[in-house]
Amino acid sequence: MSSPHLQRVTDLESLRAEFPILGSRTYLNSCSLGALSHRSERYLQEFTNRWHEMGAAAWYDHWLGKVEDLRSRVATFLGTTPREIALLPSTSAALSVVAESVPAKGRNRVICAELDFPTLAYQWAVKPEIELVVLRSEDGIRIDPEQFAAEIDERTLFLATSHVFFTTGYEQDIAELARIARAAGAYSLIDGYQGAGQVAISLPECGADFYTAGPLKWLCGGPGLAYLYVREALVEALEPRITSWFATEDQFDFELEKFVFRADARRFELGTPSLPTIHTSLGGQEIIDDVGIEAIVAWNRVLTDRLVDKARSAGFNVLQPPTENRTAIVMIHHDDPADAVRHLSDHGVIVDHRPGFVRVSPHFYNNEEEVDLCVDLLMKHRG
Ligand SMILES: Cc1ncc(COP(=O)(O)O)c(C=O)c1O
Repeated sequence: MSSPHLQRVTDLESLRAEFPILGSRTYLNSCSLGALSHRSERYLQEFTNRWHEMGAAAWYDHWLGKVEDLRSRVATFLGTTPREIALLPSTSAALSVVAESVPAKGRNRVICAELDFPTLAYQWAVKPEIELVVLRSEDGIRIDPEQFAAEIDERTLFLATSHVFFTTGYEQDIAELARIARAAGAYSLIDGYQGAGQVAISLPECGADFYTAGPLKWLCGGPGLAYLYVREALVEALEPRITSWFATEDQFDFELEKFVFRADARRFELGTPSLPTIHTSLGGQEIIDDVGIEAIVAWNRVLTDRLVDKARSAGFNVLQPPTENRTAIVMIHHDDPADAVRHLSDHGVIVDHRPGFVRVSPHFYNNEEEVDLCVDLLMKHRG
């Protein structure tokens, strides 16, 4: 079937054929792991072929170029320039390097939210000198920007929080959060792992100081990489206290006693990037770019609305952020989510669970029949 939202750039059937898992499973778990495409697999094969044929010579002739191709695509996708993008092994590593990059200037408070992914808060929980303030959610879905504004003060070093909350799918107004942080003289750090690839982003416009993203989930590139955006004005002003040979100018001079930070965001990098993931991520990113984020957002909204409506009509209680903040992470209340997820899996439908919820996350390659099947099976399981 074909969707009017996707016709502009491609049609859904040929798009679906790019993702083999869709031929054998109903895959509705993209917020855990995006589907692997033929294109990513082909690029991975090219990588291993070159490894066989050229060994380390492939670094100079091919692989360093691929690293820059990816950096450049990611920069364009995020509305910024390659100068502001660092490649790191994981979101946790990207957050760590940020936490180790800013001068404290007498500030020792970090504000985050209880709905954030824990690895964000852990960066400061392990630092005894930091007072970590965790904002509570009144409705279990969102945090009001006013809560950040009320808590932030001249002792605050970071306002650090998610773009999209991983357990509620609520998209925060990151431009407003960046504004609140800036007004208090604090840095804004946004964990965008659940945002990039399912919502439109223009980083310089939103004003965030730091933004982390990665290919694992909505960008369909697999595990082993994260992207760190650092606002242009901060790039050259910051000198991380954890580092690597990728962060220094003239890294291939191998001068042990000379370390000069690179002038761009590569100064935040922590060593050799995962080359297999560079290749699979290029495949995923190219497809996302071909389809276009606006088309993805629009189609995901069609699928999500259908999922929510159908689940509600079937009597399920669905956690529902306000319309303008909703994304494609749908949380369906369930007494025994693990058993429900097993039941769906036995019928070829892959979703996930979190305490008290079945978590369903459709993406641009899914169709309406798949969403319907998911709810039908949940109904049958309930009996
Ligand atoms: C919002 C968010 N941040 C961070 C992570 C974990 O990042 P990493 O394992 O790359 O450190 C996840 C989930 O995997 C996540 O959903």
